[in-house]
Amino acid sequence: MRLPIIAGNWKMNATLKEAIDLVREMTERLDRIKGVEKVLCPPFISLATIKELITGSSIKLGAQNMHFEERGAYTGEISPSMLIGLCDFVILGHSERRHYFGESDEVVNKKVKAALRAGLKPILCVGERLEENEMGRTREVVTTQVKLALSGVSPPEELVIAYEPVWAIGTGRPSTPEQANDTIGIIRSAIAELYGEAIASEIRIQYGGSVTSGNIGGFMQQPEIDGALVGGASLKAEEFLSIVEQTAAIKKVR
Ligand code: PGA
Repeated sequence: MRLPIIAGNWKMNATLKEAIDLVREMTERLDRIKGVEKVLCPPFISLATIKELITGSSIKLGAQNMHFEERGAYTGEISPSMLIGLCDFVILGHSERRHYFGESDEVVNKKVKAALRAGLKPILCVGERLEENEMGRTREVVTTQVKLALSGVSPPEELVIAYEPVWAIGTGRPSTPEQANDTIGIIRSAIAELYGEAIASEIRIQYGGSVTSGNIGGFMQQPEIDGALVGGASLKAEEFLSIVEQTAAIKKVR
């Protein structure tokens, strides 16, 4: 049985004060929801403060990015060892990083290796662009991204994958649950090719892209989908709580 995982990717939103207010609003109720791993991924500058606010709760933290080097002349970057003790997870290879900051599959691969070395759990994002989807290239794109990101990586039990079709992110136009389930099945087969069926059946794969409290149910009904990476809707306490609550209720009865 895979424990469902809902992660809130706040992206470049929330000042420290806004972050504190949002976490205060959610912590107690989020903590009480069982059967779902709950992860908040605020901007770097809020991690330490939020860490204190959630201490003693079942809520976990994730970073949104990380450099692959341990230290050095990389102005503005954050290293794996700086995140140790602050967060358990780190989002890697998000399509916004790939698109706006030119992150290649090779860089994502280095980051995955560095995260695992540091004991951080990567949330590895993959997903096809609109034109790739329209050309019927989804299978090829996600399989290639997964294989390149995991090239030379020994069986990564701590890995989480987020399937995020680029055309669904922030657009209000999510994938259908069936389509997402199919593609996640393809990703699981790619993992099976790399590491065997046993590991593939344990790795959690989320869906991401315009997830809301209104559509989470459909995604969570799907057997291959183990949770969600939530952007916009994770910035509203009631929305995020409802997404986590519905996930707990649906995955429990399955
Ligand atoms: P969205 O973002 O939920 O706002 O579409 C998801 C993501 O980019 O992780």
